[in-house]
Amino acid sequence: TMMQAQLNCLCLLMLYLTTGYSQERKFSGPLEPMTFSIFEGQEASQVIFQFKAKPPAVNFKLTGETDGIFQIQSDGLLYHNKALDRETRAVHRLQVSTLDAQGATVEGPVPITIEVKDINDNRPMFLQQKYEGSVRQNSRPGKPFMYVNATDPDDPATPNGQLLYEIVIQLPMINNIMYFQINNKTGGISLTVDGSRELDPSKNPSYSLVVSVKDMGGQNENSFSDSTSVDIIVKENIWKAPEPVEIVENSTDPHPIKITQVQWNEPGARYSLTDKEKGPKFPFSIDQDGSIYVTQPLDREEKDSYVFYTTATDEGGRWLSVPLEIRVKVKDINDNPPTCPSAVTVFEVQENENIGSNIGTFIAHDEDEENTVNSVLEYRIVDQIPKFPKEGLFLVQTYSGVFQLAAQSLKKQDTPQYNLTVEVADKDFKTLCDVQIHVIDINDQIPIFEKSDYGILTLAEDTAVGSTILTIQATDADEPFTGSSKILYRITQGDSDGRLGVDTDPQTNAGYVIIKKPLDFEATAIHDIVFQAENPEPLVYGVNYNTSSSATFKLIVTDVNEAPVFSQRIYQAKVSEGVAVGTKVGNVTARDPENLDISYSLRDDRRGWLKIDPVTGQISTRAPVDREAESMYVVHVVATEIGGSYLSSIASFHLTLSDVNDNPPRLAKDDAGLFLCHPLQTTGSVIFEATDDDQQSFLGPQFTFSLDSEFLQNNWEVSKINGTHAKLSTKHTHFEERVYNVPIRIKDGGRPPLERVVSLPVTFCKCVDGSCFLPAGHHSGMPTVGMAVGILLTTFLVIGIILAVVFIRIKKNGGKDNVESAQASEAQPLKN
Ligand SMILES: *[C@@H]1O[C@H](CO)[C@@H](O)[C@H](O)[C@H]1NC(C)=O
Ligand SMILES: *[C@@H]1O[C@H](CO)[C@@H](O)[C@H](O)[C@H]1NC(C)=O
Ligand SMILES: *[C@@H]1O[C@H](CO)[C@@H](O)[C@H](O)[C@H]1NC(C)=O
Ligand SMILES: *[C@@H]1O[C@H](CO)[C@@H](O)[C@H](O)[C@H]1NC(C)=O
Ligand SMILES: *[C@@H]1O[C@H](CO)[C@@H](O)[C@H](O)[C@H]1NC(C)=O
Ligand SMILES: *[C@@H]1O[C@H](CO)[C@@H](O)[C@H](O)[C@H]1NC(C)=O
Ligand SMILES: *[C@@H]1O[C@H](CO)[C@@H](O)[C@H](O)[C@H]1NC(C)=O
Repeated sequence: TMMQAQLNCLCLLMLYLTTGYSQERKFSGPLEPMTFSIFEGQEASQVIFQFKAKPPAVNFKLTGETDGIFQIQSDGLLYHNKALDRETRAVHRLQVSTLDAQGATVEGPVPITIEVKDINDNRPMFLQQKYEGSVRQNSRPGKPFMYVNATDPDDPATPNGQLLYEIVIQLPMINNIMYFQINNKTGGISLTVDGSRELDPSKNPSYSLVVSVKDMGGQNENSFSDSTSVDIIVKENIWKAPEPVEIVENSTDPHPIKITQVQWNEPGARYSLTDKEKGPKFPFSIDQDGSIYVTQPLDREEKDSYVFYTTATDEGGRWLSVPLEIRVKVKDINDNPPTCPSAVTVFEVQENENIGSNIGTFIAHDEDEENTVNSVLEYRIVDQIPKFPKEGLFLVQTYSGVFQLAAQSLKKQDTPQYNLTVEVADKDFKTLCDVQIHVIDINDQIPIFEKSDYGILTLAEDTAVGSTILTIQATDADEPFTGSSKILYRITQGDSDGRLGVDTDPQTNAGYVIIKKPLDFEATAIHDIVFQAENPEPLVYGVNYNTSSSATFKLIVTDVNEAPVFSQRIYQAKVSEGVAVGTKVGNVTARDPENLDISYSLRDDRRGWLKIDPVTGQISTRAPVDREAESMYVVHVVATEIGGSYLSSIASFHLTLSDVNDNPPRLAKDDAGLFLCHPLQTTGSVIFEATDDDQQSFLGPQFTFSLDSEFLQNNWEVSKINGTHAKLSTKHTHFEERVYNVPIRIKDGGRPPLERVVSLPVTFCKCVDGSCFLPAGHHSGMPTVGMAVGILLTTFLVIGIILAVVFIRIKKNGGKDNVESAQASEAQPLKN
């Protein structure tokens, strides 16, 4: 019993520690239904509970699934004498009863349940040492094609029984790319995306994998593991696009007609078609065996090929693999007759064309496939209307459709138009087409004058330009209103100056002889004229103009007294403006057509600068000329015939005067607006501009500036800015509040140069905001202004108006305003 007590104590402690029951758990108590949890694999001889017997009970009895492991002592101590094994029995259902001294049952049997808790005492094991499987190339990645399966007797509800599968090795492995993957929970082996793409039985028909399985979810370092080898055969993919299909168009067989077939690698796939081109018509279908049908006759002339896709899907509608492309070509049959190019085809042929000449090419059309026998056409002329002058005037080349003149040249007079019927035939059909041949006139007739001589006409030489003096007429027998019958009249003799012209009436071909330039008795008194009538189109070979195409005419011009004629309408001369009086500047000449003497005179000599010699026409100056007054002097010269009717005519004389440097420079404007603020803070400056009335070079004026007086140099300094502008600067700041008139010498760039001394007024004044104020009475530098101000000031005082200051604004550029305003002001503001 000592031993027993020790054991009890130890075992209760163990039980407490290992079951983890709460501290409220009792280790002894009355007999009542109870459940105990005990880890498997625990030490043997462990106490589970101490039942207390109620009198008259003196003993306990244990029945049920004791498996010889559970025992109860007579004092009620329940224990197990061997380690438990969950895998043998996970739950032991026991019954405990109390017995009295006679062995009769007092209480119970009471159910006592022992749950055996799992420990990881079993390793996982693959069900097979070796697995074999196969996969189609291009199978959908991730869809398992085989499973490996391992078992672990440990409780699957605990990590001890949770297995994790892994592929350890793939052989062969190229470029470190895994073609296979395994679902770590189910052991399902499938292709990776790479595997789906790359696997190819012709390159490598089989692979070996080593797959491991671990329990404890693979997460525990104490997990057990097992491994197995998996051999996989790669099978060819039969999900392949079939060869392109050819379907003969316009088929009369009953539809649908099977044209090709596709097949998924395994049975059970669902097939469907998708029209890639989204055409108006999609005459194809597929059945659930993968057979593809055409559902109606096709028409190549409407659409000569089709491309569409077939897809295989699983029950869930997911693609089993990529869709396959189906190509259908529609094969031609000769089901279209040839068609004429138009209702009537017209060819034109000239009258004189030679036998064998090409007239044109007749091309009919056939809808059937080009470059096949179905669209090869043959041409034949079957009728010619009229058959005059004979039959068979034309032929057509059988295959090219080239029309040719066959029998003889045509004459429009015979027949202007032929109607031909042309038969166009392909293999099976014949079509009749209409062809018209138009015979075209050619220029084989020359114009013929109605008479060869138009007689004599006498005209005064002053007959107005534009007058029609004669009508001539020739006729041409070629087709009217063509270039072959139109007539152009040319004057080939008797009018070398081109004074006459002939206009043709387009309707009648009448020629109107018109004066184009004034007639001139003095130049040509008698014109012996020859007219030539011609066509704009050249004549055909062998036909030439002859004398019937020309006519003669004599024009006699009579004299009329005419005014003198100047040799030029405008005379131009140039002279320097500095020329001496009496210098010859030019001459004019006129001639009288009747050779009378001429007297010259001037008109419009406004400045009285010129005179003209009445006999010679020589023009000279009679006063100094001035370019600055008039750079181009325009006068008129009059030539009057002496005797006769004293007719006169007039011409212009333009005298250009070239410049001489005869003007000294001057200030460009009245620079009274120049001012400097008083008192000067630092030295200041003003800018002024010079100008010159002489003609300036292309570069503009080139003035030089200097102070006129040497002793001014202590106060002022002049510096040139450019050809026209200069700067006047102060040399110190001690100036009075008044106007300084600074004498400045300006010299121009002429040859020889001229110069002038100008007085530049510079005002020193009080400044406010850039404006200049001159108090009244401080105008010593501007006496006229000062006097005016004085008078006004007195006036204002008399009428009792007291003005403190009046501001009048002066713009620097408005010198005139400045002076006028100053007369009405007490103080003078200048604004910069
Ligand atoms: C693995 O084998 C066990 C025991 O044979 C079985 O119950 C289970 O369904 C199998 N699992 C698979 C995925 O085949
Ligand atoms: C098992 O696979 C799943 C899904 O593929 C993954 O999320 C999980 O991390 C994997 N478990 C282990 C332990 O690798
Ligand atoms: C089919 O052929 C017949 C003659 O063989 C033709 O008359 C018919 O127009 C054709 N149909 C089509 C659509 O081309
Ligand atoms: C040719 O046909 C046209 C109509 O197509 C007709 O007007 C003409 O008179 C015909 N010419 C001859 C010579 O028959
Ligand atoms: C000119 O030629 C035409 C025919 O082209 C002919 O009728 C006429 O007689 C010829 N005239 C002369 C003068 O030879
Ligand atoms: C008249 O001027 C022309 C140039 O315009 C000159 O050739 C001719 O000699 C001059 N005649 C006389 C007489 O001065
Ligand atoms: C000369 O200088 C003045 C002042 O700088 C300027 O206004 C003017 O345009 C200049 N003239 C030329 C031709 O550069």
